[in-house]
Amino acid sequence: MSDLHDQRILIIDFGGQTTQLIARRVRECGVYCEIHPWDISDDVVAAFQPSGVILSGGPESVIAPGAPRIPDAVLQQDAPVLGICYGMQAMVNQLGGDVQAQPSHGEFGYASVAVVAEANLFSGLSDRVESGKPQLDVWMSHGDRVERLPDGFTLVGTSDNAPSAMMANEAACRYGIQFHPEVTHTLQGENILKRFVLDICGCDGLWTPDNIIDDAIERVRSAVGDEDVLLALSGGVDSSVVAALLHKAVGKQLTCVFVDNGLLRLHEGDQVMQTFADNMGVTVIRVNAQDRFLNALAGVTDPEAKRKIIGNLFIEVFEEEAGRLPNAQWLAQGTIYPDVIESAASTSGSAHLIKSHHNVGGLPSEMRLKLVEPLRELFKDEVRTIGVDLGLPPSMVQRHPFPGPGLGVRILGEVTQEFADILREADAIFIDALRAHDLYHSVSQAFTVFLPVKSVGVTGDGRRYDYVVALRAVETIDFMTARAAHLPWDFLEEVSRNICNSIPRISRVTYDVSSKPPATIEWE
Ligand code: XMP
Repeated sequence: MSDLHDQRILIIDFGGQTTQLIARRVRECGVYCEIHPWDISDDVVAAFQPSGVILSGGPESVIAPGAPRIPDAVLQQDAPVLGICYGMQAMVNQLGGDVQAQPSHGEFGYASVAVVAEANLFSGLSDRVESGKPQLDVWMSHGDRVERLPDGFTLVGTSDNAPSAMMANEAACRYGIQFHPEVTHTLQGENILKRFVLDICGCDGLWTPDNIIDDAIERVRSAVGDEDVLLALSGGVDSSVVAALLHKAVGKQLTCVFVDNGLLRLHEGDQVMQTFADNMGVTVIRVNAQDRFLNALAGVTDPEAKRKIIGNLFIEVFEEEAGRLPNAQWLAQGTIYPDVIESAASTSGSAHLIKSHHNVGGLPSEMRLKLVEPLRELFKDEVRTIGVDLGLPPSMVQRHPFPGPGLGVRILGEVTQEFADILREADAIFIDALRAHDLYHSVSQAFTVFLPVKSVGVTGDGRRYDYVVALRAVETIDFMTARAAHLPWDFLEEVSRNICNSIPRISRVTYDVSSKPPATIEWE
């Protein structure tokens, strides 16, 4: 197999909210791509040797002073270019056309674009025909609009508020679209992106799950050789997929350390051991550190302090175990592509740090181990797909995200064994019910929160004062914003009844209907 990365699309990011979605769509077409910020150097562009370039949307106006620009090297090279929204306007602006502020208002949401001329990128694509012209149903989001195309471009599509909604320069293989093909509301969006990367850029669609796995295995083997590898296995999707992949790549050279910190979900520790050690034959050392974590957390109520304690203690325990394996030269991590993009953005100062998120598997920096990160290039959906192909149970791979500090941030205030046990049981009832009612995958994340307050209840003849739990279920694309899931009322009643009937220490169940913002998804 030739190198899977030889054919690759460069995505220039102008800060658009859907830039990662563009990349995911390109990957779905079977083509490798990378996202780079608009201010990368010309040398990086030249070294990348793209098969094609996509210019993303962005929040700025190209006619504002100091607005982000397309790197000169992109406009000087020969590979095809597709500008989306801001990307199209930047192309128009830098190639000598004219962009103006929209006279009345911008155009946001659904629009219909009439196709008025032929172009290779769009030919034959149509959602409807009106007055003899093919129409595309698209999703727009722009304030400025293109008034005059640069030399060499012809007008291909037009909408009510964007007279130049599509443009093409066939000789130079350059295209611009004012709408967003990466969102599903643009019905032909997938076809347009497919046409661009496969037909116009000439890529072969080699980026498939099988090829990704083969390539990752080959690269791990050639990096690691016959040395031993350590992995902190949390049972979450990313570290699980790393474990399965490394096991396939280097077999017994891999040792996983699974730290049970007492803050896991019901039976989670046993499930992890069963999946990896019993069924797959992976070497997993289980460290039962429940008491150490609970002792360290005793009396601590501040959420960020709890996070720090859990994170630091995890590293301490992990290092102790690593010390017993002196032959290990490598530390495997489940870093995925969005982490790479995010940390690049935060070094350039454009990311907002809301919480000191501790990722289990976080790097003990002073460990002097070499780092192997086989998922570094992959989006979460790709990680899930290859996880199933590697033989992991779909229920594990499709699981909702679970925070590194686990129940530590879902028990408000001080964490105790009793509270953790109560919460585990209540959460299991909620999650099992979601699965039983086929609702689990209709929400992005669902869990239960323990509130250490006593509320009155009545059972039989007696009044009782017991604890309260909150159920939380959210729908979100990116976990940066979210809305409470509209779970059926009957379902919530059933869960509440089951929790109160089977857990005597709980007298009341509430459902959290807050959005993010202003609330966060977790309660701490
Ligand atoms: P918030 O509560 O910030 O959560 O709206 C957004 C997403 O991040 C997860 N989360 C964490 N993950 N360590 C983690 O690994 C943490 O400390 C942490 N806090 C929140 C949360 O579960 C949600 O998916």
